[in-house]
Amino acid sequence: MRRPLIAGNWKMNLNRVESVSLARDLSAADLTSDVDVLVCPPYVYLDAVSSAISGTGISLGAQDVYFESAGAFTGEISPAMLTDIGCTFVILGHSERRHVMGETDGLIKRKVHAALAAGLTPVLCVGELLEERESGKTREIVESQFNGSLAGLTEEQVQKTVIAYEPVWAIGTGKTASPQQAQEVHADLRKMLADRYNSATSESVRILYGGSVKPDNAADLMSQTDIDGALVGGASLNAEGFAAIINAASVSAA
Ligand code: 13P
Repeated sequence: MRRPLIAGNWKMNLNRVESVSLARDLSAADLTSDVDVLVCPPYVYLDAVSSAISGTGISLGAQDVYFESAGAFTGEISPAMLTDIGCTFVILGHSERRHVMGETDGLIKRKVHAALAAGLTPVLCVGELLEERESGKTREIVESQFNGSLAGLTEEQVQKTVIAYEPVWAIGTGKTASPQQAQEVHADLRKMLADRYNSATSESVRILYGGSVKPDNAADLMSQTDIDGALVGGASLNAEGFAAIINAASVSAA
């Protein structure tokens, strides 16, 4: 049985005071105990948020990491730096890193391996553009990102990885994939895992949905067989709304 995971990707939002306040409000919220909760603030507020959520059971993640462990890489952050300040997760291959920063599957793969080697859980994102969906290429694109970004992982490593399906056309647009559209891609991803590894491994990996998840659509999405949680952007910036999404994951898990 996969335990649901609800992750908040704060992206490049909030200041220090707002970040701490959001983390404190979430810590004080009435959250179900049968859902794992993760917050991913900007790098510069990780430390402050780490203190604010200390002892609550809420996990801390970063939004990216570099694959080298130390050295002359101006502006970059290593996996060991993230574990040092209490991170246990890292989002990798987010569509904004792929499409705004130009990250390739080759680069993302190196980051996934480096994160796992440091003991971090990667939340590896895949997802198609609108024109790719409209031209019937969703499966092909998702499969090529899956193969490229998760190349060379052992069965044990992939079991420690979380996959997030985020259709690019649904991110920040208010357009959510329907539960059926999302479930179809999640089932494809699970089949890819089964084909490459085996069914036990495939059944153990958590696959999150992301793209305009809100309190009012979370339960429907989460009730789908292969949707194990959500990667939430905008709606994770409000403690009350994010708590409602977390608790919606519990209802459907019951
Ligand atoms: P929104 O929830 O704002 O659409 O963002 C989704 C996302 O990109 C999470 O990583």
